[in-house]
Amino acid sequence: MNILKNFSVAAASFALALATASCGGSRSGSDAGMDAFVDDLLGKMTLEEKLGQLNLPASDDIVTGQAKSSNIGQMVADGKVGGVFNIKGVEKIRDLQRVAVEESRLGIPLIFGMDVVHGYETVFPIPLGLSCSWDMQSVEKSARIAAREASSAGICWTFSPMVDICRDPRWGRASEGSGEDPFLGAAIARAMVKGYQGDNLRNNDEIMACVKHFALYGAPEGGRDYNTVDMSRQRMFNEYFAPYKAGAEAGAGSFMTSFNTVDGIPATANRWLLTDVLRGMWGWDGFVVTDYTAISEMIAHGLGDLQQVSALALKAGTDMDMVADGFNGTLAQSLEEGKVDLGQIDAAVRRILEAKYKLGLFDDPYKYIDSGRGEKEIYSAANREEARRIAAETFVLLKNDNDILPLRKKGRIALIGPLANSAANMPGTWSVAANFERYKSLYDAFRDAVGSEAEVVYAKGSNLEADPQLEADATMFGRDMRDPRSEKELLAEALRVAAGADVIVAALGESSEYSGESSSRTILTLPEIQRRLLEALLATGKPVVMLNFSGRPTVMTWESEHVPAILNVWFGGSEAGDAIADVVFGKVSPSGKLTMTMPRSVGQIPVYYNHFNTGRPKADDSRFEKFRTGYLDSPNAPLYPFGYGLSYTTFEYSGFALSADEMTADGAITASVTVTNTGRYDGDEIVQLYIRDMVGSSARPVKELKGFERISLRAGESRKVEFEITPELLKFYNYELEFVAEPGEFLAMVGPDSDRLSVLPFTLK
Ligand code: BGC
Repeated sequence: MNILKNFSVAAASFALALATASCGGSRSGSDAGMDAFVDDLLGKMTLEEKLGQLNLPASDDIVTGQAKSSNIGQMVADGKVGGVFNIKGVEKIRDLQRVAVEESRLGIPLIFGMDVVHGYETVFPIPLGLSCSWDMQSVEKSARIAAREASSAGICWTFSPMVDICRDPRWGRASEGSGEDPFLGAAIARAMVKGYQGDNLRNNDEIMACVKHFALYGAPEGGRDYNTVDMSRQRMFNEYFAPYKAGAEAGAGSFMTSFNTVDGIPATANRWLLTDVLRGMWGWDGFVVTDYTAISEMIAHGLGDLQQVSALALKAGTDMDMVADGFNGTLAQSLEEGKVDLGQIDAAVRRILEAKYKLGLFDDPYKYIDSGRGEKEIYSAANREEARRIAAETFVLLKNDNDILPLRKKGRIALIGPLANSAANMPGTWSVAANFERYKSLYDAFRDAVGSEAEVVYAKGSNLEADPQLEADATMFGRDMRDPRSEKELLAEALRVAAGADVIVAALGESSEYSGESSSRTILTLPEIQRRLLEALLATGKPVVMLNFSGRPTVMTWESEHVPAILNVWFGGSEAGDAIADVVFGKVSPSGKLTMTMPRSVGQIPVYYNHFNTGRPKADDSRFEKFRTGYLDSPNAPLYPFGYGLSYTTFEYSGFALSADEMTADGAITASVTVTNTGRYDGDEIVQLYIRDMVGSSARPVKELKGFERISLRAGESRKVEFEITPELLKFYNYELEFVAEPGEFLAMVGPDSDRLSVLPFTLK
């Protein structure tokens, strides 16, 4: 019996409805065809088959997290699986889909998910790096290319974008998000969803997005992964929720719950969060999947046994259970005992079936399976070219004394450091589909860049860490780069290599897995063994350029005093080597700006730009002031502020003006500023607008990003940049959580970063 055939007929007859339906999560377009189709299918399903749709086991193929599943094939045939994730390879996916379609009783197709977080085989910079481009076209393009590659390998669902706001660089997953700002984070969330889902999932190169991790995952106490999150609702709504909401409004088809508690209740069982806020207030109607074993983890959270926590999750609004086997394993019993009702189960099943319908899988379960496409699409020259261009936009030039950078292609260049010759550490964390063998190390890229014009010599210089265990923990998943030689031997070799060089480029910092999941740190300075290497290189008296590889803001207070040039390169993806060479040798002028504040010390954390004032602000941050807010041993100001980043050229801001100094509740004013490239190089500048609400019914931040524009200026060129300020932009969630613009005085501020700003007042009537 091939029931699928009936589905295809049914689905085809609703094709018109599908074509006019909105995809993903926004409730704007109702879809009678889809409703009728899903009603009909639900009516045919047994309870066991329904629970099967809610089940998302891991494949044995790529191991993530702790749990592992087996016998997937048999479970699929038995109708006990709704989707599978992190399988790489279109043939494997085809086989499993065939089992679902041909061997299960109802032939319901599977959805295939994957953590395509910053690219598939063409890997883009880690999301934190990508955010430093402030380039929404590039962000969207990266997601579009990722979708094209992943879909050509059978993937129709990505666990991305990760939009958790983070103010704590101790947290390793800062690398996966877009930094500390809700306004920028929301813009990036929209661009990513658009990039993945394209034209409403109509085409077979458009895949369903999953906004994660809902919610507040980026604010764990102590920066320790999975730890408690506790914050006021006003803070949630004003400072953390915007990117999730933007993802929902952009029509993301799915959301993933976070591991942490929200207001004392784990997100996965938090009905207020998943139902009242996400579905109620925001009107979103996609499906909610848990994070990896998040349901069973609620046993350790102390919420009950597996049966209890599974029922709580369902009732809260969770639809799909990733790996915990709580829904499949216990909901039948809970139904029998009256702890959940069939309506709740049906609602969850409906949302999963709707997602499959929106993806077009009932029309063609093999829509995403086309072996020919992958060969042309995956890691294509065109995709790599884009990844290289985009990576070069993400590097942040922190310091460049005496214009050491860009380097001229002449003489002898010594490239030294543990990251200098490690292709596997270029893509960064969460590059699940990466193919390290295809990537270039920095050393190879430098040699390709200089050709016969200069000589590049290399030495490793030091291991990543003195402690081999710590290094092993920070270089797992095939990123191992340990050198068996002693510190002394490595250093001696480096000094020999450096001796004959004209300039030294030190490739230092973190390895890929020093950030990412479960990679929290308490020390954010350069590992001591690398610091000793750096000191020795500086002691040669030769000019030294430091390339800082990092998945988070690191503490570079010492380096900022002693090293003449520092370029923060994050993890730039598969094409990082070439992209870094492009910037180091001046083919591209650096233009990235920080999206997370760089602290002076771990003790300052959390340190972020959009903070409240205290009642006792300091008058002068350069010294200690008794009974004023501050530290005995440190200024309050960070080392490098949010929005900061240099270029090889210089930009001057002039003529900042507002079109009016009063604004009515239905009016708007325009802020304008002229930016001039006053240096010798062409370059890109990221112009930023901040606003301060001077008096509010609640305390208001000292400034909030409310606009930005990335512009390209040739040397000597000027451009007038305009920002429209509307009352909408002035709104915030008051104590009652009403979204309001309160009349009164505001400040508009523009400049190159969150610190160097010109200020003008205006009034909202
Ligand atoms: C992570 C998620 C990821 C999931 C599936 C979890 O451990 O927290 O971000 O999507 O695994 O791989």
